[in-house]
Amino acid sequence: MDKVESARKDDMQSIGSDLSEQIKAKTRDIHVRAENTQLMLNYQKGQITLPQYKLLLFSLYEIYRALEEELDRNASHPGVSPIYFPQELARLETIERDLEHFFGKEWQKRVIVPAATQRYTQRLHTIGKDDPNLLVAHAYTRYLGDLSGGQVLGKITQKSFGLSSGEGVSFFSFPGVSSPNRFKQLYRSRMNSIELTKEEREAVLEEALMAFEHNIQVFDDLQKMLSITEETSENQQATLIRPFSILH
Ligand code: HEM
Repeated sequence: MDKVESARKDDMQSIGSDLSEQIKAKTRDIHVRAENTQLMLNYQKGQITLPQYKLLLFSLYEIYRALEEELDRNASHPGVSPIYFPQELARLETIERDLEHFFGKEWQKRVIVPAATQRYTQRLHTIGKDDPNLLVAHAYTRYLGDLSGGQVLGKITQKSFGLSSGEGVSFFSFPGVSSPNRFKQLYRSRMNSIELTKEEREAVLEEALMAFEHNIQVFDDLQKMLSITEETSENQQATLIRPFSILH
């Protein structure tokens, strides 16, 4: 075992046995990778354009549709019920509202997502059917992210596009959560109350890495789509996007 590996092992041992602490420690490095994807770096610098934001919303729509469908279906599963907070957290309707704001009532016909988004949603459906204990890893990754860095991104979005009335940015707003920090504490304690065997817990921790990896791949794919579209004229865009897309 080299020095780095041994330091990491010591670090893990001092973390304690709570799932919330272990998952945070496990995903620390990959969180940095997610923050440093080109899309997120541009976002943080306020360099996201409206077409980019609209494209991101389509992927978020597909991801939350799959995540929330599986959480709803498994609402009474012992690995899901403690962290099932549809009133406070559900995002699908907020994204639908934002999409309607930008594209009008017919927005569903316009949905375009890259292949990475499809792989992510397939994974969510697979575990929802075969191993619902793993859903907590995905719910944690998205919802706690939305309540953390996501709140900063929400302010940047609103400012960048001058959306002062909140229209088009409902996704970032959680009216059912008065204090994100207090809610995150509650969520962590609920995560810690889930009974898991050692193997099941290990699988949840691995799945959290996978959840971050899926997000990174979605961001990278979106970035690729965006650089292609930026280099081409309006007419060419449709042709170039199609290979990555599913159209409803
Ligand atoms: C937590 C920033 C992207 C998932 C946090 C926290 C900050 C932050 C400041 C709070 C840390 C703490 O309370 O100790 C950012 C920034 C991002 C970004 C600036 C990009 C611009 C992401 C992405 C994901 C994500 C892409 C996953 C899809 C999470 C999660 C937490 C978190 C799950 C909760 C950690 C925990 O308390 O266990 N983020 N983040 N973040 N973020 Fe991010």
